[in-house]
Amino acid sequence: MTSDILQQLNDLKKTINHHAYLYHSEDKPEIPDSEYDRLMHSLLEIETAHPEWVSEDSPSQRVGSVSLTAFETVAHEMPMLSLDNAFTDEDLEGFEKRIKDKDPREATLIYCCEPKLDGLAVSLIYEKGVLVQAATRGDGVRGENITRNVRTIRNVPLNLMGTDWPVRLEVRGEVVMPKSGFEQLNKQNLKKGLKPFVNPRNAAAGSLRQLDSKITATRPLAFYAYSVGIMSSPFGTSHIARLDALKSWGLPLSKEVKAVSGLQNVMTYYQDILHRRNALPYEIDGVVIKVDEIDIQNILGFVARAPRWAVAYKFPAQEEMTALLQVDFQVGRTGTITPVAKLEPVFVGGVTVSNASLHNADEIARLNVKIGDTVVVRRAGDVIPQIVSVIERLRPENARDVLFPSSCPACSLPLERIEGEAAVRCTAGLICPAQRKEAVKHFSSRKALDIDGLGDKIVEQLIEKELIQTPADLFKLSPGSMTLVERMGPKSAQNLYNALQRSKETTFSRFIYSLGIREVGEVTARYLAQHFVTLEALRHASHEQLIEVQDVGKVVAEHLLAFFKQTQNNEVIDALLEAGIHWPHPVTRNENEAGLLEGKVIVLTGTFSVMSRTDAKQALEGLGAKVTGSVSSKTDILIAGAAAGSKRTKAEQLGIKIMDEEQMMAFFSSEPQDT
Ligand code: IVH
Repeated sequence: MTSDILQQLNDLKKTINHHAYLYHSEDKPEIPDSEYDRLMHSLLEIETAHPEWVSEDSPSQRVGSVSLTAFETVAHEMPMLSLDNAFTDEDLEGFEKRIKDKDPREATLIYCCEPKLDGLAVSLIYEKGVLVQAATRGDGVRGENITRNVRTIRNVPLNLMGTDWPVRLEVRGEVVMPKSGFEQLNKQNLKKGLKPFVNPRNAAAGSLRQLDSKITATRPLAFYAYSVGIMSSPFGTSHIARLDALKSWGLPLSKEVKAVSGLQNVMTYYQDILHRRNALPYEIDGVVIKVDEIDIQNILGFVARAPRWAVAYKFPAQEEMTALLQVDFQVGRTGTITPVAKLEPVFVGGVTVSNASLHNADEIARLNVKIGDTVVVRRAGDVIPQIVSVIERLRPENARDVLFPSSCPACSLPLERIEGEAAVRCTAGLICPAQRKEAVKHFSSRKALDIDGLGDKIVEQLIEKELIQTPADLFKLSPGSMTLVERMGPKSAQNLYNALQRSKETTFSRFIYSLGIREVGEVTARYLAQHFVTLEALRHASHEQLIEVQDVGKVVAEHLLAFFKQTQNNEVIDALLEAGIHWPHPVTRNENEAGLLEGKVIVLTGTFSVMSRTDAKQALEGLGAKVTGSVSSKTDILIAGAAAGSKRTKAEQLGIKIMDEEQMMAFFSSEPQDT
C-alpha cells in the first residue's frame, strides 16, 4: 500500500517535470494548465500526508520555502571568469589575431556565437542528474548559495533528462527576467505603491538574492545555459556540441546560439542580433564569441581573469549617465503640458541624446529629480529617451527643484489639473499658439490628410508668422505667400501648394482622425466613419448614439460631444469643407454585409503583394474582425501571405482555417463571402 503511494508520487514527479519542461523550455505544452494544476495538487496531497518523502528535486520545491537570515557562501571548484570586451570590428580582428599568434594551425576558425544575456551568472551543480546546488558568481572564487531560490525558476530542471550526463556536472548560465515579465512585475508594483525596478537586470538580481525564496517563486525569472564548469567525465569536443548535450538533458539554451565559420560570419551575426535586439524576449548587451573547438580553447588558455578563446562584442550601451541642465515645458496638441529634460548631450543607444521625456509632475516626484542632478538616461530602440533614475549621491549643492508652471508657457493662460488625471493642461484650445501648431501638424500628418512637404518646421513658422491660424487656413495660402517661410523657394512653395490641392481628396475616416479630437485615434475614427456614414450624422450624434460605436466608451463620447459643441471647431470644419475637402460618397452596406467578419479572430502572416500588412489589418478590422499577433486555439482564420512560416505550421496543427491573400481580397469586394 505504502509502496503504491510512493510509486504514485514518483510517477507524478516525473509527469510534472515532463510537462514543466514542455511548457517552460519548449513552449509546447501538451496539457492544459488546469490539468497541470490537478497533477500538482495530487503531488502536494501525498507530500502533505508524507512529509518524510519530500525530496529536494520535487516540483513542489519550486514554490519556495522558509526565509533565510543570510546566504551561506560556497567556493567555486573552478573559478567563474569574466570576458574581455570588444567594441568594434577592429577589436574583433585583434581578438582573432591573438588567437592565431598562439595557435596558427587553423586558417578558418569556427566560432560559437551567443547573445550576451543581461542578467546574473549562476553555477548549477547536478549530482546523478539532480540539482544539488546553485550559486551566484560572487567574486568569481566564492559565491552565495542560492539553491532554494534557483529551484523556484520554472525552466531550471530539478532533474536532468536522459542518462548520459556526467555523474557530477556543473552548468553555467545566466538568470534573467524576460522583458514581458519585467513589465508586468513593475505594473503590479506600481499598483501596490512600490517602487518599480529600474531595469530587468536589477529586477532579476533583486529577485534572485531574496532571503525568502517564496518571493523569488513569484518572480518571472528564466535561466539560459551558456557553458559547463566541472564535470566528472568529459563530453563533447566542441562548445556547441556541449551546449547541444545540455539541451538534450533538458537545460534551456537561448534560441540564438549558432556556430559560424570565420570572422566575417561573426560580424554578420553581430549585426543581425543588434537589429533584432528589441524583438528578443530578454535584454542583451552584446554577443559572446567563443572559439568552438575545445582542444583549441585548451591551447589558448587564459590571461588574467578572462579566457583568450572568448570575447564579449558589446552593443552600444542603452543607458548612460549625464547631467540634467534644465526642464522645459511643452504644450501638446490637446493642451497637455509635458516636462522635457534638457540634458548634457550623451551618446546612448547608438545616438546622441539631449532631450528626454519626464512625462508629468508625478514622474518628477517619483524620480525626485532636481536640476543639476546626474541622471541615468535610457534609450532602447526607437522609444523616446527616458530618465530611469537619479544618482542622488552626486547631487550638487546648488541643485534646484523642478517648478511646474501655473500658466501656459505658450499663451500664459492658467493651467488646470483635472481630477484623477496625472496631466496638467492648458484649456485655451486653438487660442493657444502651441496647440494651434500641434493641431496643424496632426492635421497634415501621414495618417491624417498626409500633406507631402509640410514638415513641422514649416508649420511652426506659418503659425509664428501668422500666415495661418487653423488647418483650414492652409488652403488659403498662395504659393507666393508660402515663400515668406525661411528657406522656402518658389519651387518648393509650388510643390507644397500642389500637395495641398491633392490632399483635399481624402476619406471620411482620415478626415475625422485629422480633427485631432482627444482620444480619437485612427482606429476609432474608422469605426465612427463606418457607423455614422455622414459628417452631419456624426456631428449631431448624442451620447447614447456615440457609445454604440465599437471602441467608443463614455470618456471618448464626452470628448466627441465637447469637440462638436465648440463653435470654433465647427467653424474650422465648415471652412475645410468650403475649401473643397471631400471624400467618396459612402457605399451603404446592407445589414448582412455589415460586420462580415464580426467577432472573428484573424492572424496575418507572411508577406502580401497587393496590400501592406498594416492596411490589410485595418481593412479586416473595418469588417469587424479582431486581428491578433499569434496563432492559438482561439484563432478563427490565418491569412497566409508568401513565405509564411511557423504560424502557418501551427495553424495547420490546430486545424485552423487558412486563407491566402486572394481569398482575403475577396472580403473587401462587394460579394459576400462564406466565412
Ligand atoms: S561565457 C569564461 N556566455 O557575461 C566565459 N557569459 O562578462 C565566461 N554572460 O559573468 C562567460 N551571456 O554573466 C558567457 N553567452 C554568454 C553570456 C555570458 C552573458 C555574462 C556572464 C559573465 C559575463 C562576463
